[in-house]
Order: sequence, then structure tokens, then C-alpha cells
Amino acid sequence: MKEAGATGLAAATSTLAPFGVRAQAPPDDGTPEQIHLTWGEDPATSVVVSWASPGAAVNARVLVGETLPASVAAARVIHAVQRSYTDGLNGQTVYTYHARVERLRPDATFRYSVTADNDRHREQPFSATFRSAPAGRAAFRWTSYGDLATPVTSWTLSSPQSRFAVEAVERFKPLFHLLNGDLCYANMNPASQPAVWADFGNNVQVSAAWRPWMPCPGNHEIEFNNGEQGFNSYLTRYTLPHNGTRFAGLWYQFRIGSALFISLSADDVVYQDSGAFVPGPAALQPAPGTGHAPIEPGTSLYIHGYSGGEQTAWLEKTLAAASNDHGIDWIIVQMHQDALSSSRNGNGSDKGIRERWLPLFDRHRVDLVLCGHDHDYERSWPVRGCNRDAGRDAATGITVDTLQPQPVITAEPVDGSFDTSHGTIHLILGGGGTSAPLDVFGVNAANGLAQAKVITRPNRPVTRPGATPGAQVFTKPGADALEDAIWSARRDTQTGYGIAVFDLDPGMAAGKTSITIRYYHAQGADRVPTANYELFETMVLAKQRRG
Ligand SMILES: [Fe+2]
Ligand SMILES: [Fe+2]
Repeated sequence: MKEAGATGLAAATSTLAPFGVRAQAPPDDGTPEQIHLTWGEDPATSVVVSWASPGAAVNARVLVGETLPASVAAARVIHAVQRSYTDGLNGQTVYTYHARVERLRPDATFRYSVTADNDRHREQPFSATFRSAPAGRAAFRWTSYGDLATPVTSWTLSSPQSRFAVEAVERFKPLFHLLNGDLCYANMNPASQPAVWADFGNNVQVSAAWRPWMPCPGNHEIEFNNGEQGFNSYLTRYTLPHNGTRFAGLWYQFRIGSALFISLSADDVVYQDSGAFVPGPAALQPAPGTGHAPIEPGTSLYIHGYSGGEQTAWLEKTLAAASNDHGIDWIIVQMHQDALSSSRNGNGSDKGIRERWLPLFDRHRVDLVLCGHDHDYERSWPVRGCNRDAGRDAATGITVDTLQPQPVITAEPVDGSFDTSHGTIHLILGGGGTSAPLDVFGVNAANGLAQAKVITRPNRPVTRPGATPGAQVFTKPGADALEDAIWSARRDTQTGYGIAVFDLDPGMAAGKTSITIRYYHAQGADRVPTANYELFETMVLAKQRRG
């Protein structure tokens, strides 16, 4: 990935085109597309506007001003920084632009437009509005899901539901959206990764140009030949708050009012191997112009431990600081993979997260963990600590220590609200819009209780059983262990699709503060995509306000 000023760049070729269109674009086309917002370092005063264009943009810039009435003519002009990369599989160069809009007034609405000297629409450039976050303790709403894909059904794992999911965010009009990983599954379409990202970006723009979408990387953001961990496509498109390490953009924190949001890159700690993979029998052939060698069958990009402990050290430091900050009532973590999932046909739970991060969540009283990865909805009871040696090997039945999370209560609270100062609630929100909903959950046939698969060791590729001797066909084994999912509180068996809506009430001094969570699901979407999201359940988290 390289960075350069946006002006005076030589034009270059590209074949990116707007949503669902594959026409050849002029090589010097700087028309903005895939426009999206993220929070800057302080959401009350800063927002980043990011976009892409088919070719290199000349003088790429944002015009921004406070609305009422819209007066972009009187706006500030903010020049964008260009970041580009050349896809390591098909050789296409992707141009992205990032403009940091600083010194905003908190809790105010702004109008902005995005353009360049070679913007085809420069007479009437794209424009939208956004709202800065409130400063200090205030009420606000956010939404979340993961595993979104694109609405273009020719791409593997894409589905029309992906469009409805983006529209659902707009229906609830949150201050911002958390997109918890597996953004577009470009790595499942290895010859066309930039085109898949473009379809994703243009779909998401319907909402993300109007309110920040804050992502975390999932296993499907890991791509061959695109950087050491395979995250170049992701990192080139997003500008995210600094974490002070050499892994910029992969994990970060931001704070709004009394809530601290922490976004993590769980591929660093999970045991499961689920990044880019060549199952065979054919090798994966990068385009000749890339200069890359064929990638042999059985190759997977396994990045477990990639930060060498830096991420966990950052997390510990960040959580310790939050514990000592009496202005922070709530700690919400988003990551892609799951520590507590009892999906039967999905990935299940991963012991890596339980080992590395759950003890930190316990010690520093994280309230909520929002994940995706398994394409369903599941809610845990508040959990703290774990039971040892409570699992068994899936093949042999021998006892395995899965670090089974321990629920602090196992019934809906009598007063109607969970006090998460006693335990962390995990939500699986993997129902964005893929073509692979998973709404079937594990059951222990012996006792009828909920059962979870647990991955307790690396599942690296192995020769597929039954393959013709000598055939280069590989698979990745599923979870190696099982446990009773004593921590599972609610599972949606009707559909894999939905969106969670969170309303934070800061409460009054010396009183209680609360978060009301409503999960809406798209009933019937497993058969026919639908715009209709109905309420599935409501829960309230409430605790004593600090400070
Ligand atoms: Fe996924
Ligand atoms: Fe995933």
C-alpha cells in the first residue's frame, strides 16, 4: 500500500465500475464511488470521508459545512490523501481517497460533497449529510451486524438480502453502525476481488455516506498476495482511529459519551484457520502481470498470532485505562469470530478468544461483545470465569478443557434488566446478508441441552477424505471438541438474518444507566430476500452509573 497526495497524479488503468456494472471505465475517471464515513479520533469533532474512483482522481476533495440551509458554496475544502494498491491476484490497481474532517461542532448536522477535477459529476457532485457525536454523557443509538456480502448474486456468498440489510440500517437511523467482519467475501472470488469490493462499497454507500460504519476485519478480509496478513484491500479502503502500533487500522477504540467501543482483529488469536484457502485440485493462478507464482492446492493464509501479542497488550492497556475512567459506564467490544457460539453448521466457539481475551473482559468488566462469523443470532447469559475440563473430544469423547464460560445467571432477570457489571453478554449478529444463513443450532442428544462445537487447536488443511489417491484436494477439519452450551440464552431458529439496535440512556447522576437492545430479524429471508425486519426480542442492560 502506498500513500501520496491526491493532486498531480498520473492517470492509470482500472476496470472498476458502479454497482453491478462491468463496463470499462475511462482510465482517467476520478468520479467518486463507494463513499463511506468513519469516525475520526474523537467522534464528537471528527469524521473521515473515504471513497474510491475508477482511475486516479485529480485534486480529490471534500467540501463540508454546517447545514440549515445547505450551503456547500460556503464550505471548507479538505483535500484527500490517496491510498492505492494493486490486487495481488488479478493485477488491478485500486485508488482510494481519505479526507479527515476535523474541528466539528459536537452533536450537529453537516452537509458535505465529494468531488475531483476529473469527477464526471463535478457540476453536481455527490453530496450527503452526517451528524457528529454528542460530547459528554448523552443518549444515542447504534446498530450492528456482520457478514454482509454484496447484492450481486454472481459473487460467491452474495445475496439480494445484502441490499435490504443496508436499508435496514437507514430505517433505524443510528448515529453509527458497527460492521463486525466478513464485509464482502472478496477472497471467495479470487479472480475478481476489487470488483467484489466495489459492489460492496456501492451497496453500503446508501447508508455509510450518511453515518459512520465502523468495521472490524473478519476471516474473509484475508486475501492472498495482498499484504503480509492479507488485509491490504480492507486497510486501503478504511481510515480508522489510531492504535499506536504498527498494525494501524486492524484494531482501535473510540468513545462516545459514557461508552467505550473497542474493535478487535480476532484472527490474531483464534485457532481456526478460515482465511484465504486453495482447496484444489487446481492451483490458484495470479494474473501474469502480477509477477506472483501459482498458489498450490492446500495453501491457506493462516495468521494466528500475527501481532506477536501486541494486540492483546494494547487491549489490556485500553481496558485498564477505561476501568480507571469514571466517565466510562459501558465497554462494548466488537470482533468477528466467536467465543460463545452453538451454531451446528457454522464454525462454533473458538478457544483462542477464551484463552487470550475473556480473562481480560472479566477483569475489566466488559459489558457486551458483538460478533458475527456464524450467520445467525445467538445471545449468551452474562458470563464470568470458566469451568475447567467440561468439554470432550468430538471424535474420541476424551475430556478436553474448552474453558467453558460460566453463566452468572441462567434465567431472564425478574426486574427485567441484566446487570452486566456481573458478567459479559456475547451476541452473535452474523445475519447481514450472505447467501448462507445458518439458523440451526447444536443439541446434545444425550440430555437435550444446547451444545456447542469448540475449536481448541489449529484446523490446518488436510487431504480430503475419500479423494482419489494422488488428487490434490484439501479441506479444513471442523471443530475438534464439544461442550454443553450452558451459557446460551436465546437462539433464533427462524432465520439467520437480522440487525441489532442499541439505545444507550446515560441516566442521571447517582442513578442507573441502561442500554436497550432490540434484535430485528428478517423472517422468511432464508427462502426469499425481504425488506421486512420484525422485532424478535428486546433486552435491557442496566447498571449503576459511575462518577
Ligand atoms: Fe461470514
Ligand atoms: Fe467469518
